Amino acid sequence: MTDSSAKTLQDLLSGKGIEQVDVWVGKYPEERKRAAIIPIMSIVQEEYGYLTQELMDAVADYLTCPKIAAYEVATFYSMFRLKKAGKYVISLCTNVSCMLAGSGDIQKWFKDELGIEPGETTEDGVFTLKEVECMAACGGAPMLEVDKKYHENLDVDKVANLIRELK
Ligand code: FES
Repeated sequence: MTDSSAKTLQDLLSGKGIEQVDVWVGKYPEERKRAAIIPIMSIVQEEYGYLTQELMDAVADYLTCPKIAAYEVATFYSMFRLKKAGKYVISLCTNVSCMLAGSGDIQKWFKDELGIEPGETTEDGVFTLKEVECMAACGGAPMLEVDKKYHENLDVDKVANLIRELK
């Protein structure tokens, strides 16, 4: 049931954001508009930086689907965030190829040098570290992604350089 005091997606998003949402909704038949949930959640996250329950509820209401559908999407896909993140979100792959190629050393470097473990943000709010599953770049293992860019064949020195450049 919809809470009548709840803010709608139109209340919460910018005009440009709602325009983008409606482009996605328009790609599907009315009874299938729920299929647009992933790009719509991405648009919402782009504006807010992360997804709150209020935002997820508003997306579900907009698509007239159960709220649980929005929660499932937000918790299943690693690109969605449920809490405030740093300026840079670093997705470090720790799946098999990357693990065998040394992602553990890189993860340890983040702990030793920046004081963060996966799921944590540096005190200055600049870097958030995320541990992710295979990002389909196994040939360049170990790898990480930041700002939609892949960095491959890494070692701790290359990571240190990358972080220095981002600072
Ligand atoms: S295991 Fe890391 S990209 Fe595939």
